[in-house]
Amino acid sequence: METFQHLRALHGCVIFLLIATINKGSTCEPPSMPLCFRQNEGETVYICEWDFSPNGTNVTFDLYFNDTSDIITTPFKNIKENRKEINEEILIVGDKVDIWVEAHAGDSVCTSPIRSGILRHTVKYETPQNISISWLRNNLSLSWQSKYPSLAEVSFRKYEPLSETWEKRILNTTREASTQKLIIVNLLKNASYQVRIRVQSIQAENPLWSNWSPDFLVPAELEHPPEVEKTTPTLLNGTRRVTVTWKPMHPAAAVGGVTYSVHVTQYSPRCPCKKKSHETRAHSHVVYVSYSAVNITVIARNAAGHSPPATMHIPAASSADLKSCNQTLLDKKFKKGTCLEFYELQDADLIPERAWCLTSTHRKKERKKIKTNMMDYTRYLYFEHRCHNGKPQTVQMCLYYKKEGVPSKEPQDFMIASDMQDSADLSWKEISYEHLHGILTLYKLCTVKMNEPQECINISASATKHHLKDLTPGTKYNVSLAGVTQAGVGPVAMQSFTTLPEKPFNVWISFGLLFGFFLFTIACTTILKRIKNKVFPPVPKPVIPEFSPCQPENQEIWERKEEVDNLSLHPIDPETSPVSKQATVLEDEWDDGAEQKEEAEEGCSGGSDDERTSLTSADETVRTAELKDMEQVESELAMLIYRNGLVFDVKSESL
Ligand SMILES: *[C@@H]1O[C@H](CO)[C@@H](O)[C@H](O)[C@H]1NC(C)=O
Ligand SMILES: *[C@@H]1O[C@H](CO)[C@@H](O)[C@H](O)[C@H]1NC(C)=O
Ligand SMILES: *[C@@H]1O[C@H](CO)[C@@H](O)[C@H](O)[C@H]1NC(C)=O
Ligand SMILES: *[C@@H]1O[C@H](CO)[C@@H](O)[C@H](O)[C@H]1NC(C)=O
Ligand SMILES: *[C@@H]1O[C@H](CO)[C@@H](O)[C@H](O)[C@H]1NC(C)=O
Ligand SMILES: *[C@@H]1O[C@H](CO)[C@@H](O)[C@H](O)[C@H]1NC(C)=O
Ligand SMILES: *[C@@H]1O[C@H](CO)[C@@H](O)[C@H](O)[C@H]1NC(C)=O
Ligand SMILES: *[C@@H]1O[C@H](CO)[C@@H](O)[C@H](O)[C@H]1NC(C)=O
Ligand SMILES: *[C@@H]1O[C@H](CO)[C@@H](O)[C@H](O)[C@H]1NC(C)=O
Ligand SMILES: *[C@@H]1O[C@H](CO)[C@@H](O)[C@H](O)[C@H]1NC(C)=O
Ligand SMILES: *[C@@H]1O[C@H](CO)[C@@H](O)[C@H](O)[C@H]1NC(C)=O
Ligand SMILES: *[C@@H]1O[C@H](CO)[C@@H](O)[C@H](O)[C@H]1NC(C)=O
Repeated sequence: METFQHLRALHGCVIFLLIATINKGSTCEPPSMPLCFRQNEGETVYICEWDFSPNGTNVTFDLYFNDTSDIITTPFKNIKENRKEINEEILIVGDKVDIWVEAHAGDSVCTSPIRSGILRHTVKYETPQNISISWLRNNLSLSWQSKYPSLAEVSFRKYEPLSETWEKRILNTTREASTQKLIIVNLLKNASYQVRIRVQSIQAENPLWSNWSPDFLVPAELEHPPEVEKTTPTLLNGTRRVTVTWKPMHPAAAVGGVTYSVHVTQYSPRCPCKKKSHETRAHSHVVYVSYSAVNITVIARNAAGHSPPATMHIPAASSADLKSCNQTLLDKKFKKGTCLEFYELQDADLIPERAWCLTSTHRKKERKKIKTNMMDYTRYLYFEHRCHNGKPQTVQMCLYYKKEGVPSKEPQDFMIASDMQDSADLSWKEISYEHLHGILTLYKLCTVKMNEPQECINISASATKHHLKDLTPGTKYNVSLAGVTQAGVGPVAMQSFTTLPEKPFNVWISFGLLFGFFLFTIACTTILKRIKNKVFPPVPKPVIPEFSPCQPENQEIWERKEEVDNLSLHPIDPETSPVSKQATVLEDEWDDGAEQKEEAEEGCSGGSDDERTSLTSADETVRTAELKDMEQVESELAMLIYRNGLVFDVKSESL
């Protein structure tokens, strides 16, 4: 033991002398202290590295390992680089060793300082590579391939023109299978970052930090689907060309580049061409599609993930003039690259409830299966596609019925829009597709007139109104309308109407009657006037003293007008003259007939009220009262005159 210690002391002394002598004669810079490690805990290869300058000169290195408990030196000579990989078999890894490097540049020899340590404890992980990034709301997740849980140091800052200072976080990674994962919390997912990372072992006794990863960019999350602009496909001989364009993504999300993938999906994949998806960095792409309905989806991708898909729905090519299929290839053999498609349609639009595809490789069995699955009286849209120069092409598109039936319903809302004397306008709504049960070939319209056989005409299947001509005026008609398919005539919609009687006749009759009545009235008026003048010549003014004209009790007096003459023989009292005047007026009125009697009575009752005063008052007072009344009566008169000319005559006389 003593000998050993002595030897060790000697050993140290020798090293010192050696270094001293070498350094004396050297002109070069000594290399840095060598660093020897393995890249992970399971590794059996050790790596030794050191720095040396000047770089690139003609220099060789000798690497020394001296086990301090042994005298044996194991030099690795003539190393051309400043790095050496050594298998653990020829190294002492479990004990403390001294390690140094000698650089031989020309004549001079430079020796590095000595590093002591146990090789096995020294672990320096590799720099994480191919780091995948993704956003979990505002937390950033980093992951990379590695079996070894480690301590990571992450350095990051916002990626902006005026960048902030670097922020640093030290975190433990979590292991998921063979990947290590790290979550950096509370960032902003709508911002972009510049990040670097390094890791070290958490198991090794002497862990070394790995080298920093190169800085990498973390773009903001692609939260929204690309904004795809609407386009209408252009028809090119059975193929539809669709130019899909979209707007660039938000700049923060576009950091590091965005790629877009364009997919075309349809009800029958690979019919007729193989499905392809296109990757592009541009903001538009041209796709060729068949006449069947397709969905075109655009997804944006950046380093941190992908956006939700933007979907553009392209319906089946317009159905405006879809005809009935003359023939299909359902029962026939067809060439490779051709495929048939059947859409089961329930309503007017061309969105299928079910879709079937048949390719040339399908056997009889599959064809039979499709046929049995198809229903009678149901509309199918039949396509015949081909793959032409890698582009789908539709060569046939028509309506197919496995079996046609007659319509199950009559045309709806059948009504008479307007009827005249000799014509009528009819209107209706088409029979809905689910009730059609076949292809409507025409409408059958029948008209029935009383006691005559019905007349039927054919109307175009696309019509929804009709003008009936040459009808008999004032006649009742029954009309019926029914849809017709190949299978026959469907239920009828019935309506009845009566044409108007001849109008010109009516008008003239009314006119004539009116005119006749007018003439008759005028004639009557003149005749009556003449008769009156002859029968009742103008009566001289009677002089009636103390005649109370309007006593309701004296009804009999009114009736017995003949007695007036007798009364007129009484001596004249000048004060009663106005009253007598009134009496004559009343008489005149009375003469004209029963109708005027009422009026006279009314005037009477008013007069009887006035009586007490009028009997004592002067002639003038009565007159002014009369004049006042006149104004009121005038309006009444106007009306009376309008009603009957006779009244006017009488009144004017009395006035
Ligand atoms: C050392 O030399 C190599 C090539 O000879 C060169 O790529 C490297 O940059 C040099 N390093 C320094 C620090 O001069
Ligand atoms: C480097 O040195 C070796 C001998 O030590 C010599 O043969 C060789 O020519 C030298 N090369 C250069 C580039 O100096
Ligand atoms: C290493 O061991 C050798 C003997 O094998 C000895 O000559 C040398 O001085 C030792 N060097 C150091 C630095 O211990
Ligand atoms: C990283 O990705 C590249 C290609 O992207 C691949 O060649 C390399 O092997 C990957 N490295 C690791 C450690 O997965
Ligand atoms: C993000 O980090 C916060 C803070 O640690 C945490 O509360 C939240 O659950 C994390 N969100 C996700 C989606 O991981
Ligand atoms: C990492 O985990 C170790 C225990 O496994 C713990 O002592 C240490 O504090 C953790 N470090 C961080 C930064 O969480
Ligand atoms: C990013 O999101 C935060 C809230 O999460 C919001 O306050 C900020 O305005 C957003 N920035 C941008 C550029 O949208
Ligand atoms: C349309 O397609 C048919 C069959 O593929 C071809 O014969 C014809 O020449 C094409 N017409 C045009 C204008 O491309
Ligand atoms: C297109 O997408 C819609 C849903 O967005 C789906 O209902 C429809 O079936 C799709 N059409 C095709 C042809 O894939
Ligand atoms: C059916 O044949 C007729 C005449 O042969 C033709 O006019 C019509 O376009 C064809 N219909 C379809 C759907 O091919
Ligand atoms: C018209 O239809 C009604 C029933 O709606 C019927 O009673 C009438 O006899 C029909 N008239 C003719 C002329 O057919
Ligand atoms: C109406 O069409 C049927 C066939 O659908 C035909 O038999 C009939 O002669 C046609 N009638 C008229 C008046 O054209």
